[in-house]
Amino acid sequence: MSVAYSSTRVEVAIVGGGPAGLMLSHLLHSAGIDNTVIDNRSVTAIENTHRAGILERDSVRLLVESGVSDRVLREGQEHRGIDLRFGGASHRIDFQDAVGASCWLYPQTEVFADLHRARVRDGGDLRYGVTGTEVLDVRDEPRVRCVGADGRPQEIRADLVIGADGSRSVCRGLVGGATRYFREYPFAWFGVLVEAPPSAPELIYARSEQGFALISQRTRTVQRMYFQCDPSEDPSAWSDDRIWDQLQTRLAGTDGFTLREGPVIERTVLPFRSFVQTPMRHGRLLLAGDAAHTVPPTGAKGLNLALADVRVLAEAVERGLRGGDDDALTRYTDRALARVWKAQHFSYWMTTLLHRVASASDFDERRQLGELDSIVGSAAGTAYLAEGYTGWPNS
Ligand code: DHB
Repeated sequence: MSVAYSSTRVEVAIVGGGPAGLMLSHLLHSAGIDNTVIDNRSVTAIENTHRAGILERDSVRLLVESGVSDRVLREGQEHRGIDLRFGGASHRIDFQDAVGASCWLYPQTEVFADLHRARVRDGGDLRYGVTGTEVLDVRDEPRVRCVGADGRPQEIRADLVIGADGSRSVCRGLVGGATRYFREYPFAWFGVLVEAPPSAPELIYARSEQGFALISQRTRTVQRMYFQCDPSEDPSAWSDDRIWDQLQTRLAGTDGFTLREGPVIERTVLPFRSFVQTPMRHGRLLLAGDAAHTVPPTGAKGLNLALADVRVLAEAVERGLRGGDDDALTRYTDRALARVWKAQHFSYWMTTLLHRVASASDFDERRQLGELDSIVGSAAGTAYLAEGYTGWPNS
């Protein structure tokens, strides 16, 4: 029996309506390129998924200058540095001093809310809560099929399909002959949201004998914190006291710093993985963001990298569809990957700089402390961290 699909035709079909998909949709719309976004999640589910909270300078610029919203400048917090904490004391990395740049504390949930509002404001075709997504004929006549939230089968025919469908991407598997690069880590992060006031004006990345901890922020009354844990840890088995005990031990010191406590209102275990798939183009299909690459969370590069991808991709799509420059779509892989591999290295490097592996020898421990000293005790070391953290200039 043939199914009656309601069929539409657009220039670009975007699979995935998270920040990467919506940012691309917005940029394409601004360039006069019609597009449709589909996602199997609901808007509420995405709004309530807590992810990282730090935006690089150019991510902020992209949101503001492309006309998404300037809320990040009004409600986000500019951070001009971070603390690296080890040996019981904090050492400030001053981004402004080192490289003349800042980053912004502005949670991914707010970035999503701004993008979603902007696309609704501009009449975007957004289809959330779809099921059974299939991407067909990506070599020459791509189509996306799904069942809408209303239960009706839909078909979207397009000149290009973009897979912005995250780390569990369906689109990724359609890239024939791709090469995949992986790295696993023997630890994970235990992430909590807590009802407490901030303990410090900026973020604290702590290395201790018990492992890594990160003190981040959300609002005046809610904070985000993480500590290194075993990947098999069950978050529901942890009492508030046990969580605070881990955090306090890892932040302990002799400099009078006090970590302020309160009720734990959410707890999750975040996996650690480095992953890159290349090429990012196959026929009329292109990948963006986590669909093509994943970084471990240390340094908060994931969202920033996805936004950098789509900035380059929007330009390539415009040239490909409007300028008759199909090569621009092929060149997208190399342009995007140049930044991706820098970010892969940075995330890996910050991870190994601060985490503790069970098998580490005394030599490894002392070498790690020597590395930390060479970052905080040298202008070149400090500048290296500051440049990577606030984001390399766009190419
Ligand atoms: C946050 C997450 C990170 O991975 C990081 O490096 C900094 C901040 C956060 O969730 O706030």
